Amino acid sequence: MKNDNYENSLLETIRKLLNLVFVLVIIIALLPFVLLNLDANGEFFESDSTPKVAATTPINTETSTGVTSIYWAPPSFEQITDLKKLDLVFYGKELIEHTAKFLGPKGNVSSLTNGQNCQNCHLEGGTKIFGNNYGAVASTYPKMRARSGTKESIQKRVNDCFERSLNGKPLKNNSLEMRSIVAYIQFLGSNIPKGGKAEGSGLKDLRFLERAADPVKGKPLYEAKCASCHQSNGEGTRNPDGVEYSFPPLWGSHSFNDGAGLYRLTNMARYVKYNMPFGVSHDQPSLSDEEAWDISAYIISMPRPHKNTPTDWPDISKKPIDHPFGPYADKFTEKQHKYGPFTAIKEFYKK
Ligand code: HEC
Ligand code: HEC
Repeated sequence: MKNDNYENSLLETIRKLLNLVFVLVIIIALLPFVLLNLDANGEFFESDSTPKVAATTPINTETSTGVTSIYWAPPSFEQITDLKKLDLVFYGKELIEHTAKFLGPKGNVSSLTNGQNCQNCHLEGGTKIFGNNYGAVASTYPKMRARSGTKESIQKRVNDCFERSLNGKPLKNNSLEMRSIVAYIQFLGSNIPKGGKAEGSGLKDLRFLERAADPVKGKPLYEAKCASCHQSNGEGTRNPDGVEYSFPPLWGSHSFNDGAGLYRLTNMARYVKYNMPFGVSHDQPSLSDEEAWDISAYIISMPRPHKNTPTDWPDISKKPIDHPFGPYADKFTEKQHKYGPFTAIKEFYKK
């Protein structure tokens, strides 16, 4: 009898301990999500369900508005011990930073693109915090993308930017150049657990305006704050060697085409607000939200190459709210989709 009681209370204690351990494990597992979401500022337009995770190795800690956030930073090249892989990754980095040298109109490998560099839009070789970096690519690809309605590999996504952002021709998947670019991008994101996305990757969210963004208001602002580098005619400035741009074109025949990601106002405004004029960072932007939206509206109102994309968005209800070409699954005009106001469109798709 006495023995039985002893056993029962022992079992009871073990059960309680196990419960405690269980609760602790859950708390520890949820902690990073709670911490990383601290500086979220609500009203995001891109409903991204990818979980936020912390990078496993080097992370940057920065302080903005009193909140300490943990941002993604790329791993160090010293971690690569295989020399063949190191060569590939280094060539990939070169290709991202100086694409035109190899693949532009005067490229020494081939002539595939409009002369821009990937780095023009993926700043600091695709590593700048909220500078449209490649932090989340390795961890989230291959992934289902609504634009093509297919599961896309990194190669396909890279070629999307070749054909749209660089208004050019695709690379062959087995070419040295494609293998190198993919090796570099995969290396950059190798410290993010599969399926997750670290804070600071891609572009930073920006609140909608209550009104449409206005190209007429944007023009004088562009002249005052951007034209010194990108020129009044938007065509940018080439280096003296004529191979690469020192300041890339923002519109005109040498710019990205109207099928490119940056032709969507929310992408342009998020890029511009936290990265331009050149030198600003996400925690010290210089443009107000209104200025960023209006200047961006001015840039996308200007002429640029057209790309036929008949197979884009096979399910029209999946088009992003700022996709400027109908038909749509809603009643809003192409103009409202291009310039906003976006809140009502966003609400429509929430229902
Ligand atoms: C004119 C600007 C521009 C240029 C130049 C450009 N890109 Fe992009 N790229 C973008 C934008 C904007 C996005 C995000 C688009 C979106 O989410 O709709 C993007 C997305 C990507 C992504 C997916 C990122 C992610 O997190 O899902 C990859 C990979 C990529 N680009 C590779 C490249 C490569 C390689 C080059 C050079 C050959 C290049 N890009 C040149 C603007 C550009
Ligand atoms: C001091 C010079 C300078 C100023 C001023 C400047 N930019 Fe830039 N901009 C650059 C450089 C340089 C790049 C390319 C960065 C790289 O390749 O590393 C760039 C890239 C861009 C891009 C990438 C898109 C593409 O097609 O290549 C956009 C968009 C852009 N700038 C918009 C703006 C806007 C809007 C302003 C004004 C608010 C502005 N810039 C002011 C130097 C400048």
